[in-house]
Amino acid sequence: MKKQSVIIIDKRNGKQYEFDIKSGSSGPDVVDLTSFYSKTGMFLYDPGFSSTASCSSEITFIDGENGLLLHRGYKIEDLAEKSDYPEVCYLLLNGELPSRENKIKFINILTHHTMLHEQILRFYSGFRRDSHPMAVMVGIVGALSSFYSEKTYDFSSKEGKWVAISRLLAKLPTMAAMAYKYSLGQPFIYPKNELNYSENFLHMLFSTPGQEYIPTKASIDAMDKLLILHADHEQNASTSTVKIAGSSGANPFACVAAGVASLWGPAHGGANESVIRMLNLIEKEENIKKYILKAKDKNDPFRLMGFGHRVYKNYDPRANVLRKYCHNLLKEIDSFNIPLFRLANKLEEIALNDSYFIKKKLYPNVDFYSGIILKALGLPESMFTVIFAVARTVGWISQWKEMTESTETKINRPRQLYNGNTKKEFVEINKRKNKKEFFLSELKN
Ligand code: CMC
Repeated sequence: MKKQSVIIIDKRNGKQYEFDIKSGSSGPDVVDLTSFYSKTGMFLYDPGFSSTASCSSEITFIDGENGLLLHRGYKIEDLAEKSDYPEVCYLLLNGELPSRENKIKFINILTHHTMLHEQILRFYSGFRRDSHPMAVMVGIVGALSSFYSEKTYDFSSKEGKWVAISRLLAKLPTMAAMAYKYSLGQPFIYPKNELNYSENFLHMLFSTPGQEYIPTKASIDAMDKLLILHADHEQNASTSTVKIAGSSGANPFACVAAGVASLWGPAHGGANESVIRMLNLIEKEENIKKYILKAKDKNDPFRLMGFGHRVYKNYDPRANVLRKYCHNLLKEIDSFNIPLFRLANKLEEIALNDSYFIKKKLYPNVDFYSGIILKALGLPESMFTVIFAVARTVGWISQWKEMTESTETKINRPRQLYNGNTKKEFVEINKRKNKKEFFLSELKN
């Protein structure tokens, strides 16, 4: 095939530079600009990376226009309907679905590493009781790096990588459940090996020493689907954070702690919390119309939380799947009669039939249903992003693994367009006259 390229002309001097176009197996082509600086002496300016492919990857593919999400080539709808979370973890990590024998081995390993070192449990008591559980998670996941350190493990070897992967996948639910228990002041609940991944997570979240929590089939299914649907989403902010940290060769447990921090932000993992806050604000069915009008008003900052998506412009395939499990769960626990869920149901119905939302293709996204599911399971809003972090750990660590195995990997070191001062003479302290207010001047301490 003829070599494909683009030519960039510098209009200041007429110089031309040619760059190769590379095609992937699907999605937009990319221009290979790795030699751009050495050829032109210029940097590329793309704050927010909206036009930048930061790597090549074989793990996840998103086609937002057509509502397509693939993991290793499999449609998310098929995985969510026909598979379970451990299988999806195996797939993301290994590139293929496990045989029965390998699935048993994989689950066996995950099951037998769910317990935390007893010394880790002491870290929890160092946190304020009213800490946000994501603050606890950043600290506790980071602390794992002192238990799995480079002194004992070579994380560049196959064996070392496997230790990091298996321990993270096995222990994250335990850590998350303990963060919840700590916030309630309840005793930690230890993992139970006879339960499956999602059942065990629910058990550690909701059992108490006095009362075993027996989850219903609908709640186990809803948790399992929720974990699958949040497992990976290409080069998003938290995944890129894990990879940037990992590109320096940092300890993988510390890299995942960086991912937890990035996920915490309201623009990333926090949207499902805002769905419940919005429903509380709307308060009752009679108010829906008023809030729909507010959402349509350009001069009003109010938006319908859990509607619309930056990438999925037709529909969010994850939301389509989760909707069914959300409705099943509400039916089973008879929550349709609880005002908040009745309100959510009515809002969904009204927005789906409103011409503004139809015309602008604003469909409910995954966060609309995950927020409702987590609320229906009995979790407080502050735990929603924690559950997301548990689910996304496999995405982070699969992408980290792929990066560490790639020959393309270099330390991630972006450059900048410098706009600051370039020539200042040093002035002795007694001759300085500050024109600008010191940014902390109004603070007392
Ligand atoms: N309610 C009312 N109007 C909306 C909404 C909404 N939720 N979302 C978009 N619009 C309107 C927006 O005002 C704009 O109108 P116009 O064309 O007249 O200017 C049009 O639709 C296009 O919106 P946009 O802001 O240009 O779209 P975007 O791609 O920049 O934003 C979004 C995507 C997700 C930030 C936005 O839809 C939104 O704020 N949604 C609510 C928050 C939310 O649910 N976030 C979770 C997203 S899923 C996260 C994940 O995948 O992890």
